[in-house]
Amino acid sequence: MKRLGALLLAVSLAGAAAADDSAFTSSAGLGSAGGAEIYSHICQGCHMPEGRGAVGAGHYPTLAGNAALVSWQYVAITVLNGKNGMPAFGLPADQVMETRTVHLSDAQIADVVNYVRSSFGNRHKDKIAASQVAALPHPGVP
Ligand code: HEC
Repeated sequence: MKRLGALLLAVSLAGAAAADDSAFTSSAGLGSAGGAEIYSHICQGCHMPEGRGAVGAGHYPTLAGNAALVSWQYVAITVLNGKNGMPAFGLPADQVMETRTVHLSDAQIADVVNYVRSSFGNRHKDKIAASQVAALPHPGVP
């Protein structure tokens, strides 16, 4: 858990300093983590506790009550491919070192998508499975 603490700190610092200079190095230890843990370790550094977002060195959209979350595809595609200041989490594991991001598996992405769509006051009940994430185009795959 010490390592995850360090990663969280690194993510928080990176998020606070500059959105495009994230210091992600490893998702090791997140293997069996649920959506809430993935959120707190990976997403919260930018999107803040309770998904309330932040405006400072960058603009980190609030996820609480965000109408865009009605579409699970939109959320999953954003997590897979990243967007402007948000890194891609769907790159193959062997490509994340170069880009200094974290690789999340399709199952982990499904978990965190389900978590953000049903937390912070969001009430989207349709849960997705890893196979639905797997069916979406992934970045970095030729
Ligand atoms: C390094 C900071 C950072 C991290 C870490 C991060 N995001 Fe983001 N996220 C952003 C930024 C910046 C945007 C806005 C991108 C844009 O629209 O230009 C964004 C956009 C989004 C959006 C789209 C919101 C909208 O209104 O269109 C979703 C959904 C989202 N992030 C979910 C997540 C989830 C889930 C995680 C964790 C797996 C995560 N983000 C991790 C910075 C981050």
